Amino acid sequence: MKEQLANIRAQALAAFAAAADSAQLDALRVQYLGKKGELTAVLKMMGKLSPEERPAMGQLANEVRAALEQALEERSTALEAAALEKRLEDEAVDVTIPGKSVKLGHRHPMYIALDEIKEIFIGMGFTVLDGPEIELATYNFDKLNAEEGHPSRDWSDTFYFDTDSRVMLRSQTSPMQVRAMETMPLPIRIIAPGRVYRKDEVDATHSPMFHQVEGMVIDKNVTMADLKGTLNTVVEQLYGKGTKTRFRPHHFPFTEPSCEMDVQCHKCGGVGCPTCKGEGWIELLGAGMIHPHVLEMSGIDPNVYSGWAFGIGLERTAMRRFKIADLRLIFENDVRFLEQF
Ligand code: DAH
Repeated sequence: MKEQLANIRAQALAAFAAAADSAQLDALRVQYLGKKGELTAVLKMMGKLSPEERPAMGQLANEVRAALEQALEERSTALEAAALEKRLEDEAVDVTIPGKSVKLGHRHPMYIALDEIKEIFIGMGFTVLDGPEIELATYNFDKLNAEEGHPSRDWSDTFYFDTDSRVMLRSQTSPMQVRAMETMPLPIRIIAPGRVYRKDEVDATHSPMFHQVEGMVIDKNVTMADLKGTLNTVVEQLYGKGTKTRFRPHHFPFTEPSCEMDVQCHKCGGVGCPTCKGEGWIELLGAGMIHPHVLEMSGIDPNVYSGWAFGIGLERTAMRRFKIADLRLIFENDVRFLEQF
C-alpha cells in the first residue's frame, strides 16, 4: 500500500504539471481525488489493515492527499494567471492606430436659407407658425377670396383627396393667413414656412412639391410703404446691402392692390443675361395689401385694421442665395452637391 500511495503521488504530480488548462486540471482532480478517484480507492482499503499498520499508513495517506491538493491549487493558480495574460495580450488595444472618422452631415442649403429668413423676421418681432399640409379648400381658397370656378382651384392644378374638392394638399402657404387671423389676437405679425403641392411637371424650375414662406402683418394704419420697407430690408439682409428691388402690379384674389417683387439679377447686375432671361430682374415673391373682404371673412373690421402679406418661394430664394442653377439639385440629395454648402 505504501508503494501504491507513492506511485499515485508521483503520477498525479506529473499529470498536474502537464495539464494544459483548467478543464484538464479539473478532470485530473476527479481522477485522483474524486469519490471514485484513485487515492480514494486506496483509502477505502485502509479498513483491511491491521490496527498496528493503520496509523502510519493513515498519516502517509493524508500527506499524499495534502500534497496533491496543494499541487492542484498551485497549478490552478498558475493556469489562471497564464489564461489572463493571454487574454490581455489577445484583447490588447493599440491606441496608436488612427481612429475611423465619423461622417457628420450638415444642414441642407434650403434650410440654411430658411433659417436666415426666420432669423431676420424673428428679429423684427414676427412669430413663426407651422400649419397643416393637408388643408381644407375653405382655407386654401374660399376664405382667401378664390371662389368656386377660380382657375387655381382646377383639378388639373391641385391634388384633391375627395371628389367634392373640399380636402386637398395645400397649393400655397396663404391658408396660414386665415388660420392666424382666426386664432391670434391683434395685432398680428407672422411668417409661416412649409411645403406646398401643385400638379407641375419636374423641370429646372418646377417641382410638384416645393416650399413657400408666407408672411403677414395686421395692425392699425398699416400701409403699402410698410410692406415695401420691410421686404427691402429683408432682401438687403439676404443678398447684401444695396441689392435693388422693383415692385410690379399683379393680381392675387386675396390682396388689393397686389404686386410682385423682383430683385436685380445677381449675375449681370441688371444689364440682362441668361440667368435673368435678358430681363435684368428676377421675380422673387408675390405680395399685396390684404383684401378688405378677406379681413372681413375672418372677423376683422377692415375699417379699423389693415394689413399686408407676401408669399416667397423658398427654393428660388436658396437658388439665388447660393447661385444654384437647377431646382432638381435641391431635391436629389446628392452628397457631392450638398457638401458644397
Ligand atoms: N400664395 C401666392 C402664390 O402661391 C403668393 C402670395 C402672393 C402670397 C401675394 C401672399 C400674397 O401672401 O399677398 O403664388
